[in-house]
Amino acid sequence: MILLRDIRYVRLGTRDLDAAARFARDILGLESAGCDTGARYFRSDSRDHTLVYLQGDPQEHATAFEVENREALHAAGEVLESLKRDVKWGTKTGAEQRRVESYLAFKDPSGNNIELVVRPHHSGREYFPQRAAGITGFSHIGLRTTDPVRDEAFWTQVMNARVSDRIGAAPLLRIDEVHHRMALFPSSYPGVQHVNHQVRGIDDIMRSYYFLKEQGVKIGFGPGRHPTSGAIFLYFEGPDGMVYEYSSGVRLIKPEEEASYRPRQFPFEPSSFCMWGSRPDIPEFRETEGRARYDKAFAAAGEGSRHAG
Ligand SMILES: [Fe+2]
Repeated sequence: MILLRDIRYVRLGTRDLDAAARFARDILGLESAGCDTGARYFRSDSRDHTLVYLQGDPQEHATAFEVENREALHAAGEVLESLKRDVKWGTKTGAEQRRVESYLAFKDPSGNNIELVVRPHHSGREYFPQRAAGITGFSHIGLRTTDPVRDEAFWTQVMNARVSDRIGAAPLLRIDEVHHRMALFPSSYPGVQHVNHQVRGIDDIMRSYYFLKEQGVKIGFGPGRHPTSGAIFLYFEGPDGMVYEYSSGVRLIKPEEEASYRPRQFPFEPSSFCMWGSRPDIPEFRETEGRARYDKAFAAAGEGSRHAG
């Protein structure tokens, strides 16, 4: 079992690095955290960085999780190699670029680029963004899955993820006490589906709602409240069609609740995404498309595709 201790950063390709960087700083409200050739780093909390935009293919995404130490990383690599997951051990240059001590990269069964990192850098500087969006930190991602049953088994059997709730076939997964650090949404191709930052409260959500509309940013969903995590939310569109989310008030599942916690099954319909009545304009959350993929996933599960790895 590979113990993921935290979600650490996402790296997103873009054709227009300057425009993506402007969005991250001036619209999303992150703080610039330096640059490399073809790369711009951004902070959302006290960590060195949690988002990187890279000059390149907008379909290329990577998500990093922190593991305990070098021994744990080595053991994780061996487990993944035994599952034929095509592990790429990190180079010194690669570690410097990621501002970590060491790392490895692999693809999950859907083909998502995942990185495991050791000792990612923290920062002694206060998080001080240019736009006061009220961000308190990078918190979770939506990840695309081409087979939610297979991938749920991978993340919960090979990794330490636990299912907090399901909407249709889409599991919301935790690796610590936060209700979810990742959610797997059925799709026909891999990649990051949305990037979440927590904000302080409802004032930040509503202030951003009016700000984003004024800036001509497409609102995808919300303001609303998720019945699963209990968080209030707002989804909007960023560069290259990436969906960003602000949310606040996510439920915690405390260690003492772990033994008795039971995930709830929500049907794949708008009220399972928003208890206020907001309807998603996001393909993976929409009823017709989501439900078709949900039916397909369960048909496939019935044929016995419950293998991890
Ligand atoms: Fe989310």
